[in-house]
Amino acid sequence: MELNHIYTGDALKTLRTLPSESVDCVVTSPPYYCLRDYGVGGQIGLENSPERYIANLAKVFMECRRVLKNNGTMWIVIGDSYAGSGRGWGSKNDLYSRKVQPKASFATEFAKPKKLQNYKNKDLIGVPWMLAFALRNAGWYLRQDIIWSKPNPMPESVRDRCTKAHEYLFLRQNRQNTTSTIPPCSNPPSTMDAVRRHTTAVQSTITTPQD
Ligand SMILES: C[S@@+](CC[C@H](N)C(=O)[O-])C[C@H]1O[C@@H](n2cnc3c(N)ncnc32)[C@H](O)[C@@H]1O
Repeated sequence: MELNHIYTGDALKTLRTLPSESVDCVVTSPPYYCLRDYGVGGQIGLENSPERYIANLAKVFMECRRVLKNNGTMWIVIGDSYAGSGRGWGSKNDLYSRKVQPKASFATEFAKPKKLQNYKNKDLIGVPWMLAFALRNAGWYLRQDIIWSKPNPMPESVRDRCTKAHEYLFLRQNRQNTTSTIPPCSNPPSTMDAVRRHTTAVQSTITTPQD
């Protein structure tokens, strides 16, 4: 496996080319359920049901488990979605207006939520926890749920509930006790520069004793 190399391609197929126990840490934000169309054939996120979506994600994450070292960690950012009435499903908003990014063709956002069997119109699906429990049942250690709170969330047109202003970050481990330590983050950085400075500082302190 080449270091400092970006592997592109279908996640499951590409992961299968990587050797077992060769990765220290996985950080990922998979596509959310029925939120965006990335215009890629075989993309994850547009399955007919949330259960099928979770099953497809679980396949990818079980492959992550194979490539992850025993004392590795996996961090998943994931947000939730709503079930809809089906009215307006399929109409999309360009995430990038043609004026601003004429070449950008890779993502459009669905204007209305999808009608789903076994879910009532306006039901919150509970995707993050469906994934959390599916991976826990598959053998991953579910170590932590971290709330990514958004001070300036994307405004929503709905008037009968609050605007969504958080997403989930789940910490998973391959085994109960790992020897890697996560340094305290006393005052979280607030600007990108500060994030970069903090990341460099953190990287220089993480110790992963050799097995
Ligand atoms: C939420 S976005 C995250 C993007 C990235 N983390 C970022 O910050 O730019 C999800 C990404 O997953 C990609 N994707 C969807 N299905 C995929 C698949 N089967 N294999 C690999 N990538 C996929 C989409 O094209 C999209 O770029």
